[in-house]
Amino acid sequence: MSFWTRHQVFEKNSIILVVGILLVVAIGGLVEITPLFYLKSTIEKVDGVRPYTPLELAGRNVYVREGCYLCHSQMIRPLRDEVERYGHFSLAAESMFDHPFQWGSKRTGPDLARVGAKYSDDWHVTHLTNPRAIVPQSVMPGYPFLGKNEVDPDAIADHMRTLRTVGVPYTDDQIANAGADMKAQADPDSAGGDAFTKRYAKAAVRNFDGKPGTPTEMDALIAYLQMLGTLVDFKIYNEKANLR
Ligand code: HEC
Repeated sequence: MSFWTRHQVFEKNSIILVVGILLVVAIGGLVEITPLFYLKSTIEKVDGVRPYTPLELAGRNVYVREGCYLCHSQMIRPLRDEVERYGHFSLAAESMFDHPFQWGSKRTGPDLARVGAKYSDDWHVTHLTNPRAIVPQSVMPGYPFLGKNEVDPDAIADHMRTLRTVGVPYTDDQIANAGADMKAQADPDSAGGDAFTKRYAKAAVRNFDGKPGTPTEMDALIAYLQMLGTLVDFKIYNEKANLR
């Protein structure tokens, strides 16, 4: 049998073919998987990235529950048109505390990775309640009920504990104060504000929905949206990474 007809052995005997396939897949698997064991981390550390505050986390839960990711991505690709429209391209570190990540795969609406601080809180309240009040042609649904639903300060500590088991570095102090921190972030006049800002760098303390009382899902969602893309100082990042 010449060299070029040896493959007939595989084609005539299904067991040998299966063994051959397994061997090739195993080699391919090893080549891909082995290097991962020798990497300390696949995500570069970036200054400024921190876990979500309890209120932001509650807002993120609303974002996931309402399926905002079905129309909005949070992933700016390093392509000129994207960077000029939305801002600095996304870094892996920016979603390292996301379980699950919210990159999305469809843009019916614009990317939201850099939407933080782009608009006022009032703008978001009006827009989320009825998008057509601001953009008459908008196909985004309204979420008027968010202003009526209060967030549950007790549930959020459990969520933080769960996230800690998958690697988000929440401290015991942060978990013990989760409920209080949640209220403090939405109330600039509360006594807990200082302790809260010590626990979470660069966290905004504001009455996001403009209404007094227990934080609502509107407070939480706006706190989350206003934080997106604001944690990393890209001037410093680019200098360090030698990018212009
Ligand atoms: C059916 C698709 C759809 C869904 C679902 C949706 N949006 Fe939108 N969104 C849009 C479209 C289209 C626009 C652009 C027009 C406008 O501003 O209303 C938009 C705009 C926005 C903007 C303004 C972005 C900018 O840079 O101007 C924000 C913020 C936003 N959406 C947040 C959300 C949040 C939060 C949710 C979930 C509660 C959500 N959207 C759900 C389609 C959607």
